Amino acid sequence: MKKENKQGEKITIVNGELTVPNNPIIPFVEGDGIGADITPAMKRIVDTAVEKAYNGEKKIEWLEIYAGGKAKEKYDEYLPKETLDAMREYKVSIKGPLTTPVGGGYRSLNVASRQLLNLYACVRPVYWIKGVPSPMKHPEKMNMVIFRENTEDVYAGIEWKKGSEECKKVIKFLKEGFGIEIREDSGIGLKPMSEFASKRLIRKAIQYAIDNKRKSVTFVQKGNIMKFTEGAFREWGYEVAKEEFRDKILTEEELKKSGGKIPEDKILINDRLADNMLQQMLVYTDQYDVIATPNLNGDYLADAAAGQVGGLGVASSGNFGDEVAQFEATHGTAPQFAGLNVANPTALTLTAKSMLEYIGWKEAANLIYEGISRTINEKIVTFDLAYQMEGAKKVSTSEFADYIIKNIK
Ligand code: NAI
Repeated sequence: MKKENKQGEKITIVNGELTVPNNPIIPFVEGDGIGADITPAMKRIVDTAVEKAYNGEKKIEWLEIYAGGKAKEKYDEYLPKETLDAMREYKVSIKGPLTTPVGGGYRSLNVASRQLLNLYACVRPVYWIKGVPSPMKHPEKMNMVIFRENTEDVYAGIEWKKGSEECKKVIKFLKEGFGIEIREDSGIGLKPMSEFASKRLIRKAIQYAIDNKRKSVTFVQKGNIMKFTEGAFREWGYEVAKEEFRDKILTEEELKKSGGKIPEDKILINDRLADNMLQQMLVYTDQYDVIATPNLNGDYLADAAAGQVGGLGVASSGNFGDEVAQFEATHGTAPQFAGLNVANPTALTLTAKSMLEYIGWKEAANLIYEGISRTINEKIVTFDLAYQMEGAKKVSTSEFADYIIKNIK
């Protein structure tokens, strides 16, 4: 990785604050599958928006780093240490999707990189862009930000295969130690959820709600069934809210008792069971705002929410730790479309928009939003949106980027 011949400067953190030079070095991973199609499109759009917003005074110095297929070719490993080091060192990075084999092969590189960099909060903003086709009557009612825990629950990846020595040992241990009978032909997975990891995620969600003047934070969990993991998440949530943000929040319970309205300067804190939340999101969409949730619930909720406003082709995402932020689209590698120059680059480009907001380049972020919105309103779209739109002009990935760039200029 040729860091030394780059012109730019590093983003740093001084007293907990992000310090961003005019020419920050931002590492990017192209990604597997459609990554090679959408990542160059995203970079072109971002460069145009930054140039236009700041008359050339600001410029991103892109630094290619490698993970997935390209890394395997270059370094003979899927997730080189140098890649993780660069993500850590440069504080802010963006990545295309990476392939994860199902039911065997290597572990998810996405999960591994989030865990190794301690990016404990996966943050998925879900909102409707005018003109994007949606199955909903009122897609504009969706404006949620989902904070999903990224290091525990099923993402801990603690599993044993049916019939393996480890699995037999665990079954024996549970039987002898606790009198718990488990069928011999079972596979076993563990779902650990700690007070520490749950609280830091919830703290980030509440702080975000306060900083961004959002209305509410909802703890979404399945605590009626999994009392000591999901149920505890809910309890820890209320503890964080009441102990650390007392003067800035009001719980739903407190609101009911007082019978009044939620004051302008307070965030409403409530909780919902995960199954109920999936229907709440459809029926009472605009009553929900910021969501804090354990890993697996968040995985389901974020894709379902994205579906309400146009699908994975337009859903962005970021993974955050205390210092490091890694941005990526919600979708995967869409292998059936890889290399065909047809995939929708919007999700990754909106992800870059979130990245620009994160580094404080809001003017450029707004230009990206406007460029995308205008283009989609002109009914110029990639195949996935064209399929859902009447009278659309279907264009390729690179042509779509060209139209967005024209609309930004
Ligand atoms: P996927 O997100 O790649 O595809 C799901 C569906 O959405 C497919 O019909 C696909 O064609 C469509 N789609 C996704 N992105 C699109 C885009 N930009 N433009 C147009 N259509 C798009 O999910 P799938 O098929 O479950 O996974 C494929 C691979 O991606 C797997 O190896 C999976 O592990 C990996 N993956 C990686 C992620 C990451 O890197 N963060 C996230 C999700 C999946």
